[in-house]
Amino acid sequence: MVRFAKEEDLARVNELREVVNDVHTEGRPDIFKPGFCDELRDYIYEIWEAENKDIIVAERDGVICGFACVHFVDKPESPYINARKFYDIEEFCVDEAFRRQGVATELIDFIKEDAKRRGMKRLELNMWEFNQGALAFYESVGFKTYRRYMEMDCE
Ligand SMILES: CC(C)(COP(=O)(O)OP(=O)(O)OC[C@H]1O[C@@H](n2cnc3c(N)ncnc32)[C@H](O)[C@@H]1OP(=O)(O)O)[C@@H](O)C(=O)NCCC(=O)NCCS
Repeated sequence: MVRFAKEEDLARVNELREVVNDVHTEGRPDIFKPGFCDELRDYIYEIWEAENKDIIVAERDGVICGFACVHFVDKPESPYINARKFYDIEEFCVDEAFRRQGVATELIDFIKEDAKRRGMKRLELNMWEFNQGALAFYESVGFKTYRRYMEMDCE
């Protein structure tokens, strides 16, 4: 079952946010700081309070086994960009013990329905290139790359 989080779910959501943080610190230790600092932990309560954000959880047998933090972005027109609205998936994770059982797919199905209900025509997210498992998942549910960040060493 997938549903919007309740305040009492947020401590468990933070356990899963820490898993994502570990994936990032392992994949790019040059960029991400190890550990799950207090600011990162408390940020979930800012998301909880925000009017243009939501926290969604997946449950299996009463256990929260996955979550998504989402942001309803409404960008005004600027001199070089058209006004656009999109539904941004900012954080996303399934507990390791529950992977490859369709939990993340169920979260995306819920998100798509929620986006439609809000009149949003587009889902977006960004991800790190080292995270090939996540890329395979996102592609499996229909996401396509539309923009790239590139880098090279110049030492
Ligand atoms: C990426 C992630 C959310 C996928 O969750 P999941 O619940 O296991 O995904 P699903 O079971 O819905 O997978 C659906 C399909 O996606 C593809 N897929 C999912 N994980 C995959 C992986 N690690 N490698 C290759 N393909 C994968 C498969 O096609 C899968 O179908 P199959 O199991 O029938 O082969 C999960 O691995 C995760 O939380 N990873 C760590 C955190 C993370 O990277 N978050 C994203 C940060 S941007």
